[in-house]
Amino acid sequence: MAHELEKENAADAAMDYVEDGMTIGLGTGSTAKFFVENLAEEIADGLMIKGVPTSEQTRQLAESLGVPLIDIEQVDRIHLTVDGADEVDASAQLIKGGGAALLREKIIANASDLMVVIADPSKQVEMLGQFPLPVEVTPFGYTITAKQVYDALCRAGVLKPRIDVRAGPDHQPLVTDGGNFILDCQCGIIPDAPKAAALLAHVPGVVEHGLFITNCRVVIIGSEDGATVFEY
Ligand code: 5RP
Repeated sequence: MAHELEKENAADAAMDYVEDGMTIGLGTGSTAKFFVENLAEEIADGLMIKGVPTSEQTRQLAESLGVPLIDIEQVDRIHLTVDGADEVDASAQLIKGGGAALLREKIIANASDLMVVIADPSKQVEMLGQFPLPVEVTPFGYTITAKQVYDALCRAGVLKPRIDVRAGPDHQPLVTDGGNFILDCQCGIIPDAPKAAALLAHVPGVVEHGLFITNCRVVIIGSEDGATVFEY
């Protein structure tokens, strides 16, 4: 699998942010999986933490590894969230949602004292937009919502975005953990990500979008022999 060692090294470096007694948001995806596995090893050695999974996929992984979980509704404070990203720019702005978990990922990141992103170098970009931007929408009226998402992206300066409804393995629209659909928006370049985020947030039917503008304060990029930590 491509970039496995780099992902693993990024996840290892994220362990420096973990402290006994923390409630920790557990990200979704192949990079976050390494972090959950690290936690499980440390828990077996006596680390006391509680995890808040950002997806049903991560919930199942954590449960299978014996990581104690707590329902988000029972949580007062999330000290730390460690998650992957599909793109990260030099200002720690992100595109997330390649794994269709962006809604829970954003709720949990936003509620966390600190969000740490772990990634391999292929995720670093000068400008966001090469990775199709996921936008989670209600199934009701999604074709109308898609047109308004198109208009919002154009108003944010994106040139001729192309919008596809993400399909699941059954070739029907993929249904997220929250019961919604995902619009994958091919943008090429998103010239003003904060503006795009603000405009998308105002489209009726948009539940959440995959632009994480101010959430992330630490980015860890793994390499074959270690990791580089960027703190913002
Ligand atoms: C899931 C996500 C993931 O963090 C993102 O897709 C990166 O995944 P991976 O670590 O497998 O490349 O946002 O919704």
